[in-house]
Amino acid sequence: MVGRGSSCRRQLQAALLRLLCLIPTGLPVRSVDMQRTTDNITIRQGDTAIIRCYVDDKVSKVAWLNRSNIIFAGEDKWSLDPRVDLVTKGQLEYSLRIQKVDVYDEGPYTCSIQTQQQPKTTQVYLIVQVPANIYKISPDITINEGSNVTLSCLANGRPEPSITWRLLNPSAEPLDGDEYMEISGIMRSQAGRYECKATNDVSSPDVKYVNVVVNYPPYIKDAQNSETQVGQKGVLQCIASAVPTPEFEWYRDDRRISNGQGVHIQISGFRTFLIVSNVTEDDYGNYTCVATNRLGIHNASLFLYKAVIPTIKYSTRGPGTGKDNNGSACIAQSLWLLLASITCLLFKC
Ligand SMILES: *[C@@H]1O[C@H](CO)[C@@H](O)[C@H](O)[C@H]1NC(C)=O
Ligand SMILES: *[C@@H]1O[C@H](CO)[C@@H](O)[C@H](O)[C@H]1NC(C)=O
Ligand SMILES: *[C@@H]1O[C@H](CO)[C@@H](O)[C@H](O)[C@H]1NC(C)=O
Ligand SMILES: *[C@@H]1O[C@H](CO)[C@@H](O)[C@H](O)[C@H]1NC(C)=O
Ligand SMILES: *[C@@H]1O[C@H](CO)[C@@H](O)[C@H](O)[C@H]1NC(C)=O
Ligand SMILES: *[C@@H]1O[C@H](CO)[C@@H](O)[C@H](O)[C@H]1NC(C)=O
Ligand SMILES: *[C@@H]1O[C@H](CO)[C@@H](O)[C@H](O)[C@H]1NC(C)=O
Repeated sequence: MVGRGSSCRRQLQAALLRLLCLIPTGLPVRSVDMQRTTDNITIRQGDTAIIRCYVDDKVSKVAWLNRSNIIFAGEDKWSLDPRVDLVTKGQLEYSLRIQKVDVYDEGPYTCSIQTQQQPKTTQVYLIVQVPANIYKISPDITINEGSNVTLSCLANGRPEPSITWRLLNPSAEPLDGDEYMEISGIMRSQAGRYECKATNDVSSPDVKYVNVVVNYPPYIKDAQNSETQVGQKGVLQCIASAVPTPEFEWYRDDRRISNGQGVHIQISGFRTFLIVSNVTEDDYGNYTCVATNRLGIHNASLFLYKAVIPTIKYSTRGPGTGKDNNGSACIAQSLWLLLASITCLLFKC
């Protein structure tokens, strides 16, 4: 019944309205008689739009049109859209309300008024805004240093959002790029968390992130020698930089060292220690630490030296007092004297 009624109505629509002189385009426009204004109404998707139209008691016929479709003719609803109704206030208001506005509602709406003398139309252009929304972003990636990378961040919204990128390092400067951001020959310093921000001022920007891991071969950035006396614990240390985390090996000259016999290899992340628990004369010499990952290998030479400086004993008159110790004793003595003087001053002795 509804279908038949509406098709019937559609057929009648043009003819009927022309008779009523309500379709503005069908009228021989007399600019003097015709009051025509176009305003923009901006509304966010999902909100309720009320398009105002005020009339007076001299009005005989009124109608609302969406482009050239009749939505209401008088109180009679022609539209089948349940979101649409009228807001009236006695004889004076004839406004159109559209609930849950969507993007396809955007366009011109005409309030057509037939007074006794002249037809009048008020046209409003409904602009539907949609907050920026990132609907697709590159997944987190792991790539090798030197590769070319393109990160994508696709967003929609009305108006069209603008896309900006930042690498969330301490400087976090904006990067060149929009939906697609290219990094050619990526460096290890360009690894990190990338932020994509879509902005169109309809509401707060949409923000999403891509984590970029840049693999690079190991580099031993710190190798610490040791000076140890016989019978003491000797510790050699290597610190590497690498992605992924490197594997470590230790060599004595060309021989691989393994745990056991007073030697202990300790590895924690990017750091490795070679611990000789009780150094003998034979342990002095050249060692090599080797860091490996699937991108490469790097090694560094370290030395376990024989300590020429004995450890400082509490007694300054102990045996084997060398030049240095002699000096420290002097400093210690001076310090003691200074401290004594201060104490003396404080307690007025
Ligand atoms: C309505 O919006 C359009 C752009 O969408 C603009 O060109 C026009 O000037 C606006 N009109 C008014 C009355 O604000
Ligand atoms: C306005 O017309 C368009 C197409 O002509 C339609 O998709 C939309 O639903 C209409 N809006 C209302 C509120 O009638
Ligand atoms: C990376 O891009 C540059 C141009 O920007 C090109 O010359 C080079 O061949 C590319 N490298 C790879 C590995 O695709
Ligand atoms: C270190 O080795 C020497 C000789 O082998 C031994 O006399 C000494 O007790 C050892 N010291 C420790 C702390 O194990
Ligand atoms: C230490 O050993 C490494 C590897 O065996 C070698 O390349 C290097 O020349 C040696 N250094 C010295 C000072 O002997
Ligand atoms: C250390 O590196 C050098 C040169 O890269 C290489 O010749 C040597 O064999 C390496 N040493 C070890 C113990 O891997
Ligand atoms: C340091 O010790 C030497 C003896 O080993 C002694 O002759 C000298 O006077 C000392 N110097 C000082 C500053 O104590």
